[in-house]
Amino acid sequence: MLTMLSLLVAVIYVLPAYIANGTPVVVLRFAGRGHPLDMRMVMRDGRRLLGDGKTVEGLVSGLSAGLAAAVLLYTFLPGVYRGILECGLMPIGAMAGDILGSFLKRRLGIERGGSAPVLDQLGFLLMALLLAWLPYGPPGWLDPLAFLLLLLVTALLHVSTNVLAYLAGLKEKWY
Ligand code: CTP
Ligand code: MG
Repeated sequence: MLTMLSLLVAVIYVLPAYIANGTPVVVLRFAGRGHPLDMRMVMRDGRRLLGDGKTVEGLVSGLSAGLAAAVLLYTFLPGVYRGILECGLMPIGAMAGDILGSFLKRRLGIERGGSAPVLDQLGFLLMALLLAWLPYGPPGWLDPLAFLLLLLVTALLHVSTNVLAYLAGLKEKWY
């Protein structure tokens, strides 16, 4: 029972990371192609530094939406975060984790949009939490089982929202 409550709070707690991660998909659907963050730089392995899936427009919109969500949650849900940094660092970590994920995928020879299970679904969240927990450590209310369930819920949400985005014509691939 307590674990379920802890899981519910955890899902609300990480919303700034979810919002930062999801916004670029919608924005790029309307913005068109966008400007690649890596400025089309090719590494010595013959592959792009990041690839066309990471754009300036995606980064700016994801960060803005995530930071706005962080400020709103911090203001209207007092007691959830130990400070503005704890929620404000989450969208930054989410975008950094997503970019790092693309960097690793290219180095592994996975093309843009190709699947990298676990990394695709959880990379952004793990980096968001790593950054958010730097100033204060993990929150005391989050029990270990709830943390594992949060990873599971995030992976399931990631896959299901991707399928929805695919059906809505926002994404080329369902995964
Ligand atoms: N996106 C973006 N800029 C970002 C993050 C995402 O423009 N910083 C947009 C891109 O249109 C991208 C889509 O959101 O195609 C989905 O993001 P993601 O799945 O992370 O990118 P992929 O296209 O799958 O590329 P990669 O293989 O590098 O993960
Ligand atoms: Mg992808």
